[in-house]
Amino acid sequence: MNEDTAEGFVFDFGGPSEEIPVAACSSNAPLEAANAVPNWLGPFVCAADVVRMWSSAYPTAVPRQLALQLSEGATVLYQTAARVAALEGDGKDSRDIVPGKYYGGLKVWSCAPDLATYVHSHLELVAGKRVVEVGCGQAVPLIAAALSGAIAVTGHDYNQEVIDICTLPNLAASLALRPDVQCSIQTGYGDWETSFLEGGAGAFDVIIGSDVTFDPTACTKLAALLARLLPHDGIALIATKQYYFGTNGGLGEFEEAVQKSANGQLTVQRVLRLGDGNEMQRHIVLVSWKR
Ligand SMILES: C[S@@+](CC[C@H](N)C(=O)[O-])C[C@H]1O[C@@H](n2cnc3c(N)ncnc32)[C@H](O)[C@@H]1O
Repeated sequence: MNEDTAEGFVFDFGGPSEEIPVAACSSNAPLEAANAVPNWLGPFVCAADVVRMWSSAYPTAVPRQLALQLSEGATVLYQTAARVAALEGDGKDSRDIVPGKYYGGLKVWSCAPDLATYVHSHLELVAGKRVVEVGCGQAVPLIAAALSGAIAVTGHDYNQEVIDICTLPNLAASLALRPDVQCSIQTGYGDWETSFLEGGAGAFDVIIGSDVTFDPTACTKLAALLARLLPHDGIALIATKQYYFGTNGGLGEFEEAVQKSANGQLTVQRVLRLGDGNEMQRHIVLVSWKR
């Protein structure tokens, strides 16, 4: 599925798109310490020394630095995919997804810049909010949330290696450009089924995720996670391709999984469609509780 990644792509947001306005959520409860369990780090205040510490991983771990300019003064720095043979297999047989072991977090996938751009152009959805990115990988949308006024950002991935090599260094490098940004930072790793069990529910106002709907299992687990984590006035923004060839996930699969979860009490609204007829369409959907 290498062609699905954003690496080496020119991000083109000028193509056909259809946008539906979304109401902002209002919750602003205090941050729960979700790090009382293993596999969690933080929350850290976004202080210069922490940023410097994480940045130190950057030059060795990163083959090449890439940038997504969201607006003047808001730049997301990310990287070409680091190789970790223990996750992907050796060079001859490296795979984007190795079930039970690795789900593609080392590289940036094509919906990530869509979601980052959406978040930054809808500041009202994240400003003053506690935002978690599930399946964050390189955390391009999460960094966009931090640059858009979120007060706390949490990156969560299946793999600790991804958090260490990608998530934290990208956050550090991007936020080092913006010392005025004051938000707390937290990371965690593990399976969605077993993470977030303590301190998770009620800890986040906004849940975001991109290309986390790539197969039926991911859709089912993600829908169950949203049902557990989403506060009643919260929202989740999920960026997904219409369909993922080879792994059979996508928009329809995710919508169905959400509708089956939580006794049918969650709704999915399509808020943005990108891509023309010649390419696979990409969508952003908003999940919330029925009112
Ligand atoms: C295809 S990658 C997308 C990475 C990133 N969001 C992007 O768009 O560039 C899917 C992500 O979902 C995460 N993921 C998939 N299944 C998961 C699970 N069961 N528990 C935790 N994370 C999972 C992986 O760690 C991975 O980072």
